Amino acid sequence: MVNVLFVCLGNICRSPMAEAIFRDLIKENGMEGKIAVDSAGTGDWHIGAPPHEGTQNILSNNNIDYENIKARQIVKEDIDTFEYIIAMDAKNLGEINRLAGKKPKRLIARLLDFVPESKVEDVPDPYFTGNFEEVYEMVSEACLNLFNMIKEREEL
Ligand code: 4NP
Repeated sequence: MVNVLFVCLGNICRSPMAEAIFRDLIKENGMEGKIAVDSAGTGDWHIGAPPHEGTQNILSNNNIDYENIKARQIVKEDIDTFEYIIAMDAKNLGEINRLAGKKPKRLIARLLDFVPESKVEDVPDPYFTGNFEEVYEMVSEACLNLFNMIKEREEL
């Protein structure tokens, strides 16, 4: 099993959106037994909370299920569990690298690294911008590219 973890700050807006979109891709492609996905936040404010209403709405509008997704905080053990650890922005990436130390076997990257033509490197935080639509477009494009990259790299 290949394990993918999406990480943002609060784990209620961006990373649960990526988790739900990625879970949908896994399901659509019949890869449930091969790729698993989860998400976490670097902060602890929302532990146990469902996705933000804005994330829930945009996912519902696009027929993507977000059932059973609840916020949690990233822990050091996640670095051992997940082969792909994908940050939403530079701050999250810094926090993951701090936890990881030297673990060259893990692929730790920013989500928008998988959209080479992207004008921005960080997924904007809709908790502050209120623009969930913009984030949905970015995250879904990047998730599809990431999914295809993993399939090829892992020969799935
Ligand atoms: P997220 O957005 O990192 O995309 O889940 C945030 C959610 C909550 C907070 C910050 C960002 N907060 O400060 O509570």
